[in-house]
Amino acid sequence: MKTQITQLLGIEYPIFQGGMAWIAESTLAAAVSNAGGLGIIAGGSAPIDYLREQIRRCKSLTDKPFGVNIMLMSPNAEELAQLVIDEKVPVVTTGAGNPGKFMAAWKEAGVKVVPVVPSVALAVRMERAGADAVIAEGTESGGHIGENTTMCLVPQVADALDIPVIAAGGIADGRGVAASFMLGAQGVQVGTRFLAAEECQIHPTYKELVVKAKDTDSIVTGRYTGHPCRNVRTKFTKKLASGEKDGSLTPDEFEQLTLGSLRKAVQDGNLEEGSFLCGAIAGMIKEVKPAKEIIEEMFAQADKLLGK
Ligand SMILES: Cc1cc2nc3c(=O)[nH]c(=O)nc-3n(C[C@H](O)[C@H](O)[C@H](O)COP(=O)(O)O)c2cc1C
Repeated sequence: MKTQITQLLGIEYPIFQGGMAWIAESTLAAAVSNAGGLGIIAGGSAPIDYLREQIRRCKSLTDKPFGVNIMLMSPNAEELAQLVIDEKVPVVTTGAGNPGKFMAAWKEAGVKVVPVVPSVALAVRMERAGADAVIAEGTESGGHIGENTTMCLVPQVADALDIPVIAAGGIADGRGVAASFMLGAQGVQVGTRFLAAEECQIHPTYKELVVKAKDTDSIVTGRYTGHPCRNVRTKFTKKLASGEKDGSLTPDEFEQLTLGSLRKAVQDGNLEEGSFLCGAIAGMIKEVKPAKEIIEEMFAQADKLLGK
């Protein structure tokens, strides 16, 4: 499937595997890139040596393009931004803010820059700053979220920009891909579906929660802290949500309880204290499969629906 995104990045399918802190490492990213999509290693707030090692490992596992996601809020964003230049990473996606201050250096080094945006206003600023494309991410997504839905956000961003738009949030099969194209996107970014990829290195309990989730099993916590986050509904996230609602947890206490909780989910499968970040589309995911199969099935279905 050829779109402006496949041409811009030299990939076969216009699909990004979303950067996912603590989760999206070299094994998953390389599997997605080898399957013809764009695998992405999450920078999160990882130590620089860890990220360097992951980038080098990814290069040893694939000769296809891949990307790194830089979380702009993380305290070491600046050194990670330089690392992607030094390691000649072909694509950078950015989350949680405005990457304006790194843009000139990335562009000069030939890095393709694709910021994640939750609004038309930030999308327009990113285009002016020199972004190559943007990812318009709806509130259905797993992880940190904005308020606009994918259905509303993507066409408005597509109308406002000349650069290509990638739709994210709630896309897990060919219907979601086809719908994204109908909304004006040139590609998709998928996170939650890849949590249930064979190559995804999360605790088996995490995968089981994703595969067993129903349509109503996603819950947003932390709106009152200013950092809302979508998770699987568990005893722990229900406790956070009710503490937030009835005021029994202050925002500070909430932050203390959630500190390190994604790591506890990913590494330990800890249901008592872990935050299992996950999108609202988990209810549709029923099986763990190799990344290649996930991508091929998605695009075979999308092709059919789009009448190709
Ligand atoms: C577990 C998890 C962790 C995530 N972490 C990040 C992150 O570190 N940086 C980022 O830009 N986006 C992050 N995201 C968002 C994804 O990159 C992607 O945009 C999103 O998952 C797409 O929506 P979907 O989950 O409905 O597929 C995360 C998503 C999930 C599910």
